[in-house]
Amino acid sequence: MLRPFLTVLTLVLLLTAPASAQDTAAPAPDRSATGGAQTLEDILARQRGEKIDDTFRREATGDPDGAAAMAAQLGTLGGASDSEIWRALRYGTDNISVNVSAGGDVAQVLIQDGGMAWYEFRKGPLATYGGWGLIGVLGFLLVFFVLRGRIKIVYQQTGRTVTRFKAIERFAHWMLAGSFILLGLTGLFTMFGRTLIAPLLGKEFNATLLVASKFVHNNVAWPFMIALVMVFIMWVWHNIPNRTDLTWFAQAGGIVGSKHPPAKKFNAGQNIIFLSVIILGGSISASGLSLLFPYELPMFAKTFAILNDMGAPGWVGMAPLPTEMAPQEEMQLAQAWHAIVGFVLMGIILAHIYIGSLGMEGAYDAMGSGEVDEAWARQHHSLWLEELHTRDGQAPKDATPAE
Ligand code: HEM
Repeated sequence: MLRPFLTVLTLVLLLTAPASAQDTAAPAPDRSATGGAQTLEDILARQRGEKIDDTFRREATGDPDGAAAMAAQLGTLGGASDSEIWRALRYGTDNISVNVSAGGDVAQVLIQDGGMAWYEFRKGPLATYGGWGLIGVLGFLLVFFVLRGRIKIVYQQTGRTVTRFKAIERFAHWMLAGSFILLGLTGLFTMFGRTLIAPLLGKEFNATLLVASKFVHNNVAWPFMIALVMVFIMWVWHNIPNRTDLTWFAQAGGIVGSKHPPAKKFNAGQNIIFLSVIILGGSISASGLSLLFPYELPMFAKTFAILNDMGAPGWVGMAPLPTEMAPQEEMQLAQAWHAIVGFVLMGIILAHIYIGSLGMEGAYDAMGSGEVDEAWARQHHSLWLEELHTRDGQAPKDATPAE
């Protein structure tokens, strides 16, 4: 169970890592005319957005040992020119050591090259795949609804109800749902405000919306995390995988065919929703806290070190993950991870909202009033209904199929 999850985790993390190290190099052009410095072709290629092997610049950081002594005739002020020193700072070359008296590790980084890769990743693949991914999920649900229609209650409604969720459970669910929807929307505004909202509704509107979004996003994170803990405590026992899950999967949960496999309080599909909410919601919360308290809670280098110790990168044929990172790089990874996992959970939750409302007759009552008709309970959670009857000392009742 853990191994495939970590493999996926590692893959995703690698995709989010600053791209500079993974750049593929084009054949080195002839730079003899500039004495090895960059040529007009290099500049034009960069402007065209092509990837160039920049080791010739990365490594051109002067030679302090080769410098003539300052006091000697025609002595120099050092072995590196200003541009070589700035280059060494940019690429973090060893022969440059920066000492700062305040600001700690963060202030010690004068130029952080990964910022550009992060920026390109955020406005490029992250926004594109994330945005289209969500639209894809909505499209899929629409097609599914058209083809499958609403899942109806097959037995005649009995008028007898059983309590599915107590008030405290419904309170926690709606706190989780309300906060997640607000977090999702404000997160999307933050990501797409400049590219989609500003051109449509104006920069001023976008600016006001984003200031409000940031306030909401930062504060609503707390009720989300509290609700996550409440839901975990109340429902974890009902979500431990069991043998009935296999039948449920074999019959595709009754979602596709017309059979309705037996299930306890939560069926295997709901186990998946629950686990996704806990694991992905927990991961979004951890990376969100790291972003909320900048530089105070770095977690990627430590996580990578644990994954390396487990040998996780080797499972997918990768070299060990970096464990030395600039504080800024930690923040860039936290943002990328927060958004990727956020998009994945939003997709899953869209499907959950569909099935809990439009997609299944009678489902909403479970979270609305907390009471469901026995006919619904028998169809979707037969083992759970039997358990309730046994607990209350009631004889099982026959169900009448609806006309
Ligand atoms: C308007 C939005 C939503 C609606 C209409 C909705 C509806 C429901 C319903 C009807 C159930 C009970 C299903 C049953 O009785 O078997 C449920 C359960 C649950 N909901 Fe929601 N929900 C919404 C949003 C959310 C959100 C945003 C989250 C988490 C971020 C969430 C997490 C859960 C979990 C973990 C369960 C228990 C497992 C499951 O039934 O899948 N819900 N929801």
